[in-house]
Amino acid sequence: MPSISIDRSTVSYSDLGNGPVVMLLHGFPLDRRVFADVADRLRTRCRVILPDLPGFGQSETAQPFTIGSLADDVATIVRRLDLKSVILGGLSMGGYVAQALAQAHPALLAGLVLIDTKHTADDLAGKAKRDAMIELVKAKGTPAVVDQMLPMMLHQHAYKHRPEQVEKLRSIMLDCPARTIEYACGAMRDRRDFTETLKALELPVKVIVGEDDRISPPSQMRETAALARRGSISIVADAGHLAPFESPEIVADEIARFVFQVQEESQ
Ligand code: MLT
Repeated sequence: MPSISIDRSTVSYSDLGNGPVVMLLHGFPLDRRVFADVADRLRTRCRVILPDLPGFGQSETAQPFTIGSLADDVATIVRRLDLKSVILGGLSMGGYVAQALAQAHPALLAGLVLIDTKHTADDLAGKAKRDAMIELVKAKGTPAVVDQMLPMMLHQHAYKHRPEQVEKLRSIMLDCPARTIEYACGAMRDRRDFTETLKALELPVKVIVGEDDRISPPSQMRETAALARRGSISIVADAGHLAPFESPEIVADEIARFVFQVQEESQ
């Protein structure tokens, strides 16, 4: 697996297929495997780059990170791979990173895909929950965080009818190092609000959300899409907070349609 060293981190990534470049950033406490089925479908139409963010999956980090520093790391990958511009997609925490990158490095992007994520910052209650999760992971490790989060991640039907999907997700989440969970909770707690970033964006923005996303629900994501001048939204049936993992065919088709729309509009 190729990797890139950035400061005190090593970022491992998959680079698949040919065509217009789509980079997809995973959520928390996950890694690039949540996009594996989407990438398999997209790679015949696009070049798909899937980094494990520093500290997650096969990537390492020797220092705490912020959403802004992760965005700078992703910008470094885009430059090191000599990509002129990419269509950047982010799932949940990856969506925070994608919005931070759109704010700090807009010239690197041709389009933005926001999946099951939020443009708002954590409120006080949300910040307190991050602090509680930091305490939980320090005291009891990754399994306690997985037990707390897993029941919220998928469409409610999955817990009864798709046990194999629940177990696959559990095993991805269990692989997340406790130290990374600690850093990521601090990074998400301290992230900024992206309302003004989205309002100012000239780029096309595609919002994708699972119909039963209980963490970033469709009602909130409609507001996200409405902020962007060139925003549109698709709601994915049979998906919760992890639409790319739960309904990869639909999400891959939505991204492919967006990629070709971006290409046509730029000609
Ligand atoms: C994620 O899926 O990345 C997280 O649920 C994001 C968050 O906790 O805000």
